[in-house]
Amino acid sequence: MKKNILKLLLMLAMLVPLHVKAQQKPEKYRPQFHFSPKAHWINDPNGMFFLNGTYHLFFQYYPDAMVWGPMHWGHATSKDLIGWEEQPIALFPDSLGYIFSGSAVVDVNNTSGFGKDGKVPVVAIFTHHNPKLEEQKTGKHQYQSLAFSLDEGKTWTKYSGNPVLPNPGITDFRDPKVRWYAPQKKWIMTLATKDRITFYSSPDLKAWSLESEFGADAGAHGGVWECPDLFPITHNGKQVWVLIVNINPGGPNEGSAGQYFLGDFDGKTFTAQSKKTKWLDFGVDNYAAVTFSNTGDRNILMGWMNNWQYANQVPTDPWRGAVTLARDLDLKTVDGETYLTSLPVKELDAFAKSGFALKNVKLTAPLDLTEKAKNKTGLFRLDLTAKDAGDFTIVLANKEGNELTVGYEKSSNQYFIDRTKSGETGFEKGFGQKHMAPRISRDGQIALSIIADVASVELFADGGLTVMTDVFFPASEMSSLRIKSTSGITLDALKYSVINP
Ligand code: FRU
Repeated sequence: MKKNILKLLLMLAMLVPLHVKAQQKPEKYRPQFHFSPKAHWINDPNGMFFLNGTYHLFFQYYPDAMVWGPMHWGHATSKDLIGWEEQPIALFPDSLGYIFSGSAVVDVNNTSGFGKDGKVPVVAIFTHHNPKLEEQKTGKHQYQSLAFSLDEGKTWTKYSGNPVLPNPGITDFRDPKVRWYAPQKKWIMTLATKDRITFYSSPDLKAWSLESEFGADAGAHGGVWECPDLFPITHNGKQVWVLIVNINPGGPNEGSAGQYFLGDFDGKTFTAQSKKTKWLDFGVDNYAAVTFSNTGDRNILMGWMNNWQYANQVPTDPWRGAVTLARDLDLKTVDGETYLTSLPVKELDAFAKSGFALKNVKLTAPLDLTEKAKNKTGLFRLDLTAKDAGDFTIVLANKEGNELTVGYEKSSNQYFIDRTKSGETGFEKGFGQKHMAPRISRDGQIALSIIADVASVELFADGGLTVMTDVFFPASEMSSLRIKSTSGITLDALKYSVINP
């Protein structure tokens, strides 16, 4: 008996330190304030909506492996767009196919008739991708279907009349983004159809009629068009319609990226103000970005923080993929041309409290902020302004000598993120590169915000006119920070905040 108790105590003693150790060690590369699933594969954010104080994020999810596979809709919820709680899987593949990307609307008027006992239906409109039909090469393996929820997104019922929009013979026929068009009391579906966008309308989400097409001769066409979005923003008292079109490959720094058009929409046709290609984000890791529905005048964008070029190889385990920070969208006109701006949602401020501020810093020698920052985690937000700026480089580094740099190049008037020496890069030959983005603003003062998580950096320049998002995989926390300038610049103001999720 005594022997048994001793044995038990010994076993317990052995278990405790192990358990403590396991708790202390965070998983390598795990984002701390960007959503990533506990395990397995994630790609596009889907069906995002806001209802009764909760933000819902669904996402392309494969729960059986860390590579892309038969798609489900995973689900996560948040009160503040920063901290996310993973929920049970919302939609599973069925006899009609895998559940590809799409959107969700809160059908307040119960146009769909799915509402019951006064419960407002949330309706998901998604692409069914049928792998059997794909094998038969009919070209008709993608079609649009519905599911509805009467408990605010917890549980879902697929519509018995699926599909609601059959395939007319277009191989890439997917990613429906639906919104209510109040002037004509109808739903508008913006659908990616190979190399263009096709608009459909419906009174009840079930019967769809073709309205028009846009884009065969506009914008970038280096890849297939996917995951579109359409919404208005009021700019200088006028309504401007924004059409987002994700494209893969063919982005400004190669691979997957999001472009957008500004113009007019009359319930039938989208007319672009200009045919110039404009990019939502010049980094390489913001794809399939679309907005939340039911958020009133706010347009909140979120993308998949990854790139199809290497998404199946990034060195994380047991999950693969994450989403970007949520961003508030607006418009700004520079020299007669209007652009979309994105800035991190203000909800992030509550997590970025402690830190320090400096004014009028002349950068004659590199400025090492590591001691002042006293930030072992390397999670931070840095806001700075500089007048008539020459070149400057912000260096995030760790004890292993990995370096991720973000900065401005005066000669070419471009911002950059350079991840060539940022840590693990060998899993794909194009990963370790420097990415460039044009400075769009003409302001004499440069304004930058940099937001760093464990394995990502997001740059918002000039009030969100130029944005870059890149992931990277350092050997340990990037807890050292310095700013250098070969030409010598003066930072008018600098604010450093530790992000404490
Ligand atoms: C974009 C995309 C979508 C498609 C989904 C499949 O990343 O290719 O067009 O619906 O991913 O997972």
